[in-house]
Amino acid sequence: MKKLIGVLLSGRGSNFEALADSVAAGRIPNAEIAMVISNREGAPGIQRAESRGIRTRVIPSKGLEREAYDRQVVAVLHEHKVDLICLAGYMRLLSPYFVAAFPDRILNIHPSLLPSFPGLESQRQALEYGVKFAGCTVHFVDENLDAGPIVLQAVVPVEDKDTEESLSARILKEEHRIYSEAVRIVLDGKFKIEGRRVLRTN
Ligand code: GRF
Repeated sequence: MKKLIGVLLSGRGSNFEALADSVAAGRIPNAEIAMVISNREGAPGIQRAESRGIRTRVIPSKGLEREAYDRQVVAVLHEHKVDLICLAGYMRLLSPYFVAAFPDRILNIHPSLLPSFPGLESQRQALEYGVKFAGCTVHFVDENLDAGPIVLQAVVPVEDKDTEESLSARILKEEHRIYSEAVRIVLDGKFKIEGRRVLRTN
């Protein structure tokens, strides 16, 4: 039986596309992206999913209380029997209700080496801080912002001539690579979580 992935996004959708490419190419074996949900109307990621023939749903979050909104999303994910949820540029914190509905089955990609630079504009934060290395993190999701046990990270150098755009592009390339790898590890089930540590098992 194929494992079903649900992707949640709010915008561009390049990480979603990287996952979809990896599924199509067999880099994430025995899996299917069952659906893409956006909390924002007009998210480019939704058009990208539609053009690949992947089921989409826009569930507008504006004006809704966090848990009331999450109950709608969780109901749709259950309805489609989703095994793993991938947040891919999803600009919302999840409620404890959502997290409890999918224990250790929600991943997020963040464009920094967590726990440095959580939140918005991480690449700009990294440049302004003056770090010499930046990167990205795939982690399990809990109800806190950009927290939860880390599955994979990748490091990129920060160059003197970097702008927010050039650094973001270098990081994004690594995001696309490690998100697929992390999804494969988690769907394989070849890991255990000890405290904050995600350890590989074989
Ligand atoms: C990525 O940088 C991701 O790490 C962050 O939001 C951005 C989403 O980009 N959480 P995209 O929509 O996947 O292109």
